[in-house]
Amino acid sequence: MFRYSAMAVMAGASLVLAACGQAGGDAGTGQAPAAKPAAKSPEPTDAERQARLAALPAPYNTGDLENGRRQFGLCRSCHTIAEGAPNLTGPNLYGVFGRKAGGLEGYNYSEALKTADFVWDAEHLDAWLDNPRTYLPGTKMTFAGLHDAQKRVDLIAYLKVESGYEPPAS
Ligand code: HEC
Repeated sequence: MFRYSAMAVMAGASLVLAACGQAGGDAGTGQAPAAKPAAKSPEPTDAERQARLAALPAPYNTGDLENGRRQFGLCRSCHTIAEGAPNLTGPNLYGVFGRKAGGLEGYNYSEALKTADFVWDAEHLDAWLDNPRTYLPGTKMTFAGLHDAQKRVDLIAYLKVESGYEPPAS
């Protein structure tokens, strides 16, 4: 993971933007990734979580992280979200924002995900989570959908805060 981040930093701005938030974070602090004691970034503190939440675009900046965590209970049987955590039935979701759909190396996606031609952002996640099987027919994600729009806002806010997403520097 560390090696990947370092490569992304060196590979240029466009890749940094497309890669997981971790690479952007390293670049933003101006600190060489090598200076870090461990490859993985530390768990964010609650204050950092609140700061990340506040930096999200509306309506996600008003999301309820605690409720988002509860909603993520619907996903946990199939997905991990921590950096470097294993794939379960579904792919690890760390760094999913800004990643091409079906783009996690080493995970065996369905044809539907492999051939999907978009990058995950809040809007795509929102439509996907409402009803995965109508959004991408043929997906092997057997999740019926989370139809409550506010719960999706809270869940997506939680995913952004926990998956290493860094808002673009302004
Ligand atoms: C029953 C297992 C299961 C549940 C529950 C589930 N997923 Fe999935 N998820 C999958 C599988 C399997 C895939 C891969 C789909 C494919 O290849 O078609 C996937 C794919 C995804 C992707 C695409 C990732 C990528 O790299 O392109 C996202 C995002 C996602 N799931 C989010 C969620 C969220 C958020 C929840 C909870 C609301 C959830 N999933 C619930 C099994 C599940």
